[in-house]
Amino acid sequence: MASEIGIGVIGMGWMGQVHSRSYRQIQDRFVDRGIRPQLVICADEAEPRALDGQSRFGFERTTTDWREVIDDPRVGAISVTTPNNVHLEIAEAAAAAGKHMYCEKPVGRNPAETAAVEACARAAGVLSLVGYNYRWAPLVQHAHKLIAAGKLGELTHYRGCFLIGYANNPDGVLSWRFQRELAGLGTLGDLMSHVIDMAHFLYGPIARVGAPFTPVPFAPSLEKAYLPSADDVVAAVRRVME
Ligand SMILES: NC(=O)c1ccc[n+]([C@@H]2O[C@H](COP(=O)([O-])OP(=O)(O)OC[C@H]3O[C@@H](n4cnc5c(N)ncnc54)[C@H](O)[C@@H]3O)[C@@H](O)[C@H]2O)c1
Repeated sequence: MASEIGIGVIGMGWMGQVHSRSYRQIQDRFVDRGIRPQLVICADEAEPRALDGQSRFGFERTTTDWREVIDDPRVGAISVTTPNNVHLEIAEAAAAAGKHMYCEKPVGRNPAETAAVEACARAAGVLSLVGYNYRWAPLVQHAHKLIAAGKLGELTHYRGCFLIGYANNPDGVLSWRFQRELAGLGTLGDLMSHVIDMAHFLYGPIARVGAPFTPVPFAPSLEKAYLPSADDVVAAVRRVME
């Protein structure tokens, strides 16, 4: 008989939905682990998102106040899938309440916040996991095995870049990602943290770092802007690749 663990998800946007969908698959895909996640409560400060999460994934109840998730005695583990500015506060409350946590990356808006989350999780003795999902991709796992077996010899250089197009339209939504107070380190935290995690996973630790600086002329902004042409996008990608 599988043992049940109560799950609370805080922040029901993109990642909150991804985490919720994944919890529903655990009992089926990892049947030998004997664990059955029970979706107890989901929170979003935007109530329609919380209600949508409930109807899509079957959470027993919803709230607009994330503290109710922590306070629910049935919840044993939480997902922190809010924007970065609230990760630390939620993690501290969760650790104090003895809840295990799966926090999305970047854990903090800056290294100090990330270290504070690690410290509170360690002090409370709760399990913690960060959403560096690319290391689980089969190709990356295979590369990891090849490197660990010495098949690629001694590695001296790792070059990583993250190609993505969501910030290429100035008419796009000026979401929390483009606001320092909410996001922290911008693309360094949002995307390059994945690349750095992959370096650590494949062969770390990192001794020296170098990076080209490529200003992107067409990120979302409140100022009048233009829609980049396909040529603009290709040129920007080439600059990153050079
Ligand atoms: N691992 C990955 O590949 C990956 C991909 C995307 C995002 N992320 C990370 O996941 C986190 C969430 O990103 P997202 O893209 O899902 O954002 P999103 O904007 O789609 O969703 C965030 C949700 O949090 C809610 N929210 C904001 N403040 C809240 C609060 N105080 N209490 C409750 N709810 C609140 C918002 O209403 C929104 O519904 C970020 O840390 C982001 O960096 C990770």
